[in-house]
Amino acid sequence: MVKVAIFGAAGGIGQSLSLLVKLDQNVDELALYDVVNAPGVGQDLSHINTKAKLSSYLPENDGLAKSLENTDIVVIPAGVPRKPGMTRDDLFKINASIIRDLAEGIATYGKKDVFILVISNPVNSTVPMVAEVLKKFKVYNPKRLVGVTTLDLVRSNEFLKQMLPEDKIDSSNLFVPVIGGHSGDTIVPLFSIGCPEYYKKLSTEQRESLIHRVQYGGDEVVKAKKGMGSATLSMAYAGYRLTSSFIKTFKNEVSKEVAFIELNDQLKGAKEAKKIISEKYGGSHIDYFALPLILGKDGIEEVDYKILEQADEKEQEMIEIAVKQLEKNIVKGKNFISGIE
Ligand code: NAD
Ligand code: LMR
Repeated sequence: MVKVAIFGAAGGIGQSLSLLVKLDQNVDELALYDVVNAPGVGQDLSHINTKAKLSSYLPENDGLAKSLENTDIVVIPAGVPRKPGMTRDDLFKINASIIRDLAEGIATYGKKDVFILVISNPVNSTVPMVAEVLKKFKVYNPKRLVGVTTLDLVRSNEFLKQMLPEDKIDSSNLFVPVIGGHSGDTIVPLFSIGCPEYYKKLSTEQRESLIHRVQYGGDEVVKAKKGMGSATLSMAYAGYRLTSSFIKTFKNEVSKEVAFIELNDQLKGAKEAKKIISEKYGGSHIDYFALPLILGKDGIEEVDYKILEQADEKEQEMIEIAVKQLEKNIVKGKNFISGIE
């Protein structure tokens, strides 16, 4: 039995993601939670003739607690999206308390071994926040909490394909690891590792433009939507890709993904990653980072730290820049929970 809960299920990402999870034949139960319209979305989805049983909840009548009953995987796209001119960090003011409260709910009512996937921005801060809440409640397991950065990989694959139309690349088969964090300069795509054969073909200007497009791809959508939000459909696709890898762990399948995680000593390879980030990239306080990882039935089984040394010279410079910004974002998230401003 696999039960998935989606918090923020009536939103732009939440509705599409709920649809994709409802279509997954490995899911037995899907619980929707939102402060508005969850029952409406749930009723609609419940007419689809796939296996997953639907339930939906609002905050009243212990809705949050009920959505978490026997839930194995919680995915969180709850909170506000950006409008033109805003950074992801500008969302912190509103989203921080939403995420803190939801994390407290998970810590109180969730199963001890629940997997938690955080989509809400700013991911660089919301993930450390959730970890701090779970630590406070003494229910934290670093193998089971990730920030969702999959959209950065999806974009890297697709934007590379678009840059090289004559190569007729199947972007769904590429795997460009994107490490660091999820905002602007903290997004570090490693094309030299993911697809060296195509990357070699690009001029310096093309490489710069490709990297910039990946780092600021979110802005393209925010601008095009003209105040009506940010990426929802591509995000639902990316979020489902990661969620389905977690779903597959219940069938003892192992997957390779990239996600923003705590570099906790309990994770194989995390100590080594922290050491390299500190000694090579000057990030002595960095304890969260997006890296390739192996997902298995206990969650994160291994972190690929070697990639931090395999990056080419330009990518290494980008990691150094990412580290500086990321340190501030991580501390901001942690301080919100510990009450330090
Ligand atoms: P949206 O406004 O369309 O939907 C958000 C939903 O969250 C709404 O239905 C709202 O009612 C709900 N919500 C608000 N407070 C809640 C609470 N306390 N409990 C439960 N639900 C609550 O926004 P969206 O476009 O779906 O984006 C959601 C978040 O995802 C934003 O923060 C956005 O920046 C982020 N995002 C992240 C990525 C990523 O790559 N990680 C990509 C796109 C968007
Ligand atoms: C994205 O990368 O599209 C999301 O983080 C949403 C945003 O604010 O850009």
